[in-house]
Amino acid sequence: MRLTVIGTGYLGAVHAACMADIGHDVLGVDVDVEKITALAEGRPPFYEPGLDDVLTRALASGRLRFTTSLREAAAHGEVHFICVGTPQQAGSQAADLRYVDAVVDGLVPHLPASCLVVGKSTVPVGTTARLTTRIAGLAPAGVRAEVAWNPEFLREGFAVEDTLRPDRLVVGTESPEADAMLRRVYAPMVVAGVPYISTDPNTAELVKVAANSFLATKISFINAMAEVCDAAGADVVTLADALGHDTRIGRRFLNAGLGFGGGCLPKDIRAFTARAQELGVGAAVAFLDQVDEINQRQRARTVALARRLAGGDLAGRRVTVLGATFKPNSDDVRDSPALAVAATLHREGADVRVHDPEGSANAQLAHPELRCSADLLTACQGAELILHLTEWDQYREVDPVKLARVVREPVLVDGRNALPHEEWRAAGWTVKALGRPT
Ligand code: UGA
Repeated sequence: MRLTVIGTGYLGAVHAACMADIGHDVLGVDVDVEKITALAEGRPPFYEPGLDDVLTRALASGRLRFTTSLREAAAHGEVHFICVGTPQQAGSQAADLRYVDAVVDGLVPHLPASCLVVGKSTVPVGTTARLTTRIAGLAPAGVRAEVAWNPEFLREGFAVEDTLRPDRLVVGTESPEADAMLRRVYAPMVVAGVPYISTDPNTAELVKVAANSFLATKISFINAMAEVCDAAGADVVTLADALGHDTRIGRRFLNAGLGFGGGCLPKDIRAFTARAQELGVGAAVAFLDQVDEINQRQRARTVALARRLAGGDLAGRRVTVLGATFKPNSDDVRDSPALAVAATLHREGADVRVHDPEGSANAQLAHPELRCSADLLTACQGAELILHLTEWDQYREVDPVKLARVVREPVLVDGRNALPHEEWRAAGWTVKALGRPT
């Protein structure tokens, strides 16, 4: 099938490459010339494991091309996927839909024939209905563009795997024809047994925000338990393990620590709250404010722990932060809890060095005041305190005996509860973590 994928960020670039990989004729579109040039040359514009291979394969097959022209996209696609960002609006909790609207406004007047416009971005419930009206006013005479919503559930760091082998496909359409078309798009996955949930657009839009809200709630739940553990002298990791054995609960997303960040969970729960208020059901999701608050508090608690370990004052202390990205296996530093903590430590007068295997360049751009490095030993040289804030595998492989020789004081805060504490203690380190007895 002839598909266009508009917006080539984490979502769109991976979707475009994977759709070509499963046999479609795909045109990727973005306003960013640099991004399009890089993708057309087989260079992913961000770090995502496995994307370079799929991209190279898809380009070599001749089934994947890139353009900056929406006019060209209009001529190409039977199905147009919208994959642009829906960030938080400045000065509000709500989602900013200007990029989605700009795609529609730029695409629809050029459509030569009827087609399907499918949103994949995370949007407030009711967006399909709003876009349907908008498109009707823009489409050339005799051309009908039906809107459907098909939310994406991929995780950064596992984006290729999640796109090719998703847990489920959720498709919200207004007509059986649109549903049949999307079944054809995803036929190889459907045949392979991926559950295909066919529903209306409102439900499809809502599934995505509900899923992210649930995940955020699960993380804040365990972080709230970590606070209780600290007060009671209990161990949140053992607690999570024990809870996780109950198959109704499950162990995943119960890793207590610094909490969630990134370009999705934080802004999605806020946008959901804002939309629920518009719908007159703000009270039903008011608990998400607490989820957000608990999450922010873990950053403050981590800074307070560092301050305590520094004897009450961070001014002039040499601190090293391990990890700058919002999660491992990504170079994304958007709303990164690790960087937020690093910036606060710097504001409190600490001499902060930040290390990240893939995200140090982005971290340096976002926080020019911090000293970021991709070399671990350089970053740790002379440190009086080390904070492990993003759980890259590389940090689990660090030899604590060797690291102890490089630092001035062997003191570690494990903000992700992911390092082998006993091994570090045996190597002479003082190890502290939220929710853990000492
Ligand atoms: C999230 C969802 O997991 C995806 O399903 C969704 O498609 C995506 O948002 C999106 O809306 O596009 P992602 O933001 O890539 O994916 O990252 P997650 O793996 O969900 O992690 C989010 C944050 O939660 C990270 O900062 C991570 O460190 C934190 N986290 C995760 C915890 O603090 N504890 C956990 O147990 C799990």
